[in-house]
Parts: sequence; C-alpha cells; structure tokens
Amino acid sequence: MRLCINIDHIATLRNARGGTEPDPVAAAAICESAGADGIVVHLREDRRHIKDHDVRTLRSTVTTKLDLEMGASEEIVRIALDIVPDLVTLVPEKRQELTTEGGLDVLGQQDRLADVVHRFHARHIPVSLFIDPVQEQIEASHAVGAEMIEIHTGEYAEAKDGIEAQRHLDAIIHAAELGKQLGMTVNAGHGLNYTNVTRVAAIPQIDEMSIGHSIIARASFVGLDRAVREMLTLVRK
Ligand code: PXP
Repeated sequence: MRLCINIDHIATLRNARGGTEPDPVAAAAICESAGADGIVVHLREDRRHIKDHDVRTLRSTVTTKLDLEMGASEEIVRIALDIVPDLVTLVPEKRQELTTEGGLDVLGQQDRLADVVHRFHARHIPVSLFIDPVQEQIEASHAVGAEMIEIHTGEYAEAKDGIEAQRHLDAIIHAAELGKQLGMTVNAGHGLNYTNVTRVAAIPQIDEMSIGHSIIARASFVGLDRAVREMLTLVRK
C-alpha cells in the first residue's frame, strides 16, 4: 500500500499570516524523508491554500511523485499541462465548500472529461478521477480513458455508527473490485485518520491512499516526520 500525503493545510497555516512559514516545499521534503510515496496538492480556483508558485517549486523538488489535485476548469487544466505533474487527480470543486464534497460526476460530463483526459495523456500525464464508490461512475471513468480512480472515502469516514460505516466500506470494496476488473489503478482518500484508515488499507485492490488533514493535524502535536511514520505503519500493516 502506497501513501501520498496531501500538504494543502501546511499552506493554509502559512497563509493565515501571509508570510512564508510553514513552507509546503520543506513539508514535502520531510514527508518524503519519512517514507511517503508521493505528495499531493490541490490548486484550487480561489488559491485559498496552495498557490501557483508552490506547485511550480514542488515540481522541481519532489523526488517521489507529485499528484496535482484540481478541478477540470480550463484555467487550471492549462496550468497543469504546463507544469506536468506526475499525476493529476480531477475533483469536483465548489467555491463555498470547506473541502471537496463528494465525487466527480463523470457520467454527467463524459465528453468534457474525455477531452481533458486526452489532453493530459498527450502530455504523458496519467489521470485519476475522484469518484464516489458507485458502479456507473467507475464505468464512466473507464470509458473516458482514465487509468486510475480515487474512491471517495468521506462517507465511510463520517458514518455515524458501525452499521453505516460497514455499509460504506462494502461499497468501497465493491468499487475497488470493479476498478481492478476494468484494469484500473485504484486509490482511496478523504477523511481518513489514524483510527479509520486500517479497514480501508486492508482492501487488497486499493493501491494507494491520499491523506492530508489528519496527518497535518497530528503533526502540530508530534511533528510531521513522526505523524507521517505513524500513518505509514498503519497503512502498511
Ligand atoms: N483525496 C482528495 C481527492 C481530496 O480532495 C482530499 C482533500 O483535499 C483528500 C484526498 C485528502 O482528504 P483529507 O484531508 O480529509 O485526508
């Protein structure tokens, strides 16, 4: 199981004072030296945390894998085509949301997404689509040419009791199985933390996890190196 760390909230903290610290580029290096398999940043249209210059610098400093999470707007697509990250993860994006809410509706915008996927592939950039664990969305992701899906684990993470959590976990398992049957790489993420991650990490069809908030939150108490190592121990068990 690979673990990629989303460092958006290092930038959130930096931006709170408008200065340069803590520096997301330094954070990425600490995550990598602690054993992370990749670094994820979300360049949002409103640039509320990660800024363009962060992504450009990370492009030349990250030595594992740089995953650029992004909405499929024309402006951001052009920036990504110019920066050439190792992977792009397309997500839905609403300006008012606190964080990404729900998966991408691939089924409802197949032509547009097929075009965007094609443009990334022409630059040899692999594409992952962040989707809910729903059969039609997985099939549509495959149909538009994406080689990867990231299953949204937010509903599992936010389940109010064990029965509900199990229901969402079953959906994630079925989604991961279907993704694999279609020959896709299967990632998972959103809302995962030190207590709920192990049940998702135990799903054999999941190749990689993308985790941010819980690791950065823990890092504020124990340091980033230790927070990353603790999560790695859990996901690689
Ligand atoms: N994957 C995607 C597609 C996301 O949008 C996010 C949040 O930025 C994450 C993973 C990480 O979620 P969290 O910060 O809750 O770990």
